[in-house]
Amino acid sequence: MRILVLNGPNLNLLGGRAPEVYGSATLDDVVEQCHARSTRLGHRLDTLQSNHEGELIEAIHAARETADGIVFNPGAFSHTSYALHDAIEAADVPTVEIHISNVREREPWRRISVTEPACVHQIFGRGVAGYLDAISHLHYRRAHPPLTLSYGPHPDQVADLRLPDAPGPHPVAVLVHGGGWADPYTRDLMDGAAVDLTRRGTATWNVEYRRVPPVGGWRDSMADVSAAVGALSPISDDHRLDLERVTVIGHSAGAQLGFFAARTASVRPVGFVSLAGMLDLENTGSGFDDLISAFLGDDRRAHLAKVDPIKALPGGFSTVAVHGRRDRSVPPDQSHRFVEASLAAGDPSRLVELADADHMDVISPLAAGWEAVARACLAG
Ligand code: DQA
Repeated sequence: MRILVLNGPNLNLLGGRAPEVYGSATLDDVVEQCHARSTRLGHRLDTLQSNHEGELIEAIHAARETADGIVFNPGAFSHTSYALHDAIEAADVPTVEIHISNVREREPWRRISVTEPACVHQIFGRGVAGYLDAISHLHYRRAHPPLTLSYGPHPDQVADLRLPDAPGPHPVAVLVHGGGWADPYTRDLMDGAAVDLTRRGTATWNVEYRRVPPVGGWRDSMADVSAAVGALSPISDDHRLDLERVTVIGHSAGAQLGFFAARTASVRPVGFVSLAGMLDLENTGSGFDDLISAFLGDDRRAHLAKVDPIKALPGGFSTVAVHGRRDRSVPPDQSHRFVEASLAAGDPSRLVELADADHMDVISPLAAGWEAVARACLAG
């Protein structure tokens, strides 16, 4: 693939410009990291930064001949430039819009992007990592384009279906992404896992859900994931999905959502796989206090009993908890305690510990331990 990383106005000032908002990486640092990611994925990368709308438009036009995907940070033009919107639409080169900062939590005018509707995806609020996630998203879209289907009226009530190249009926892996239930983290995080598991012969259903803020909170996020699992039923005939062989796989905070969806959905999964899961919310450590409070809202203690997987055992399905020993985000003892408790409650459960994996390795087919993760997901 040939990927163009395009940066708009004022991004040449990165490093010195409002580091409390944009971080300390310079544009050169960003470009270097983008090159490293695209080389790792086997792609060629071009980059351009311009402070001029016309030059950006011309670069997008030229990309029709020279690029298979664009990663575009339009800077403030994203809030105003219909001309850039039209250029992206007319060029018809898959474009991922990226913003380093969390534009939804800043001045109200930054929440509006007029360029986003022309893009295949938008990533914001993940710092420089957002550029790398955008490159990966283009890579996995190209490797296996998803069929995105709605399971409700809200724009976040969608999921990506990928089907194996076989007649079926297909077992189904429902993927629930993590990110602390927070707005900037979306299902593109599970693209790699989705493409790889599909290649191994299972249909994948990579679920988006409402997150906090602006909407979301435990009731909305949990109801959405449960509804998304149930939404397999009306599409099962058309896509030859075997609803007797559904596994729910959740990463990090997505494991909390996945566990409850597996219990409440109208389609009953046979297995639940937690990847570096948050499964014992009362004992996650103080680093998660803000996220858990935002998720639970007022009266955190009262709600905790309803949303904490370890307090809701038995699940009534088999469980595999995969955790990397090098995970510095979610402590591995979350999985240890959960497996112990679920065995005691009568669920067939097991722990898969990966000596050399960190928090994100358990969802990356490029990571060394992935083979063991994939096997756990398929056996789950
Ligand atoms: C930005 C956000 C825009 O609102 C701002 O005008 C920028 C940078 C970002 O990367 O967060 O220039 O696109």
